[in-house]
Amino acid sequence: MKPLSKSGMTREDVFSHLEAFRREDVKWQDGRVFGYVFDPGREVQAVAQEAYTMFLSENGLDFSVFQSLLKLEKALAAIGRRHLRGDNQVVGNFTSGGTESIILAVKAARDYYRAKRPDIQAPEMILPTTAHAAFHKAGAYLDVKVVSVPVNGETFRADPAAMAAAITPNTIMLAGSAPSYSHGVVDPIADLGRIAQENDLWLHSDACMGGFLLPYFRRLGVVVPAFDFQVPGVSSISMDLHKYAYTPKGASLVMYRHKDLRKHQLFACSHWIGYTIVNNAIQSSKSGGPMAAAWAVLNYIGDDGYLEIARRKLEATRKIAAGIEAMEGLRLLTRPDMCLVSFTVEQGSVFQLVDTMNARGWYIQPALSYDNSPAHIHLSINASNVGREDALLADLEKCVATARTLPPGDLVKLVQGGLDDMDLAHLSDKEMADMLTLAGISEDGMPERMADINGVLDALPAAAREQLLIAYVNDLFV
Ligand SMILES: Cc1ncc(COP(=O)(O)O)c(C=O)c1O
Repeated sequence: MKPLSKSGMTREDVFSHLEAFRREDVKWQDGRVFGYVFDPGREVQAVAQEAYTMFLSENGLDFSVFQSLLKLEKALAAIGRRHLRGDNQVVGNFTSGGTESIILAVKAARDYYRAKRPDIQAPEMILPTTAHAAFHKAGAYLDVKVVSVPVNGETFRADPAAMAAAITPNTIMLAGSAPSYSHGVVDPIADLGRIAQENDLWLHSDACMGGFLLPYFRRLGVVVPAFDFQVPGVSSISMDLHKYAYTPKGASLVMYRHKDLRKHQLFACSHWIGYTIVNNAIQSSKSGGPMAAAWAVLNYIGDDGYLEIARRKLEATRKIAAGIEAMEGLRLLTRPDMCLVSFTVEQGSVFQLVDTMNARGWYIQPALSYDNSPAHIHLSINASNVGREDALLADLEKCVATARTLPPGDLVKLVQGGLDDMDLAHLSDKEMADMLTLAGISEDGMPERMADINGVLDALPAAAREQLLIAYVNDLFV
């Protein structure tokens, strides 16, 4: 196929090519995918699609021209304020996702302290090791140093005393998760709030995963640690809509306790020749589709609908967690506060279990070991998984026995052995290329089984993992 068709394709050709593009994708429509896609079912999808296309071409670049988007954004922020139990001082904006919300909150904190504490030249933020990678990205983009503090090895919750001990004269910010992606547990945000207030620090509560769902779990009787604006000391909260509010991708909210904090998130530019710029998010030109679809889905499902979805998810999570806990050969890492389940194998390679399950038509996600958290499997349980609990547990039981018998590949053994003559923390480009080839990765694609690649990554120090991933992706894309 030519990169660009010369005389244009027919409509049919366009769509048959698009279908072909996604032929190899994971089949999330079957309810057997435990991550990436939060599927509310066909009926809600249809509403989302109609609202999305209705606002496809409206441009969020200028809300004085597209007043509809201003109204929609205010309506969504009002939902966020109420959901997160904020008073009428609480303000917020719509963003493209959790990462953008977090980057904006870090930027707001950085610029707030730039104004307030000009003596701080090299700002630092203190994160538990379970804080999402988006904070590291924000640190890298905005030049805010990340100080990473181990979480409690039993509960996998942030350790407030250890975080307090990491405060230096350059610290501007603390963060905690509600809940963490990795283990699905809510950090002790109230304790972090006290530390933030005592030390005049910004506290971000990352509720990308749980902000929308946890209030429903609370209404169903689950004891949920406080994480929202009811907690004194919380400055900002990120809450995604495109996860457990089931709106299409490209939808999150970043909320601030008051306007004086949010002010530092905004960007205006008059130092150029052209139209006036004032942005409340990172993107300038942006489709109104995600915002309109988010508003449509939220109001179509409604409060009662979300409560019912939450009830089903809670039951499914309890069943899956109990099944894993009781299963020989598996170990639940911790009891989650939400519907994110992490577990590992007692023997053999967890990555072999992932491959064996995924070869049977599931999608379960591998996670590498880091600090005190072992390599494990992550499940984000969503509405479309409800009803598959027994099938999942039955297949896990079969696969755990098979996976145990599969030995690690030669390369994994080599890397685990330390590759005597290689400095694993500082791999050269040539060494990385050799490693990728040995692991079966080429420009033509990935091997069917990923256990060896994950095994290799798992055996490498984090800096070498990052180097290897960047080398791979740099070659992958044109
Ligand atoms: C706790 C948490 N924060 C932030 C993010 C980043 O969200 P996104 O992928 O929408 O950028 C995620 C994603 O899973 C998350 O789980």
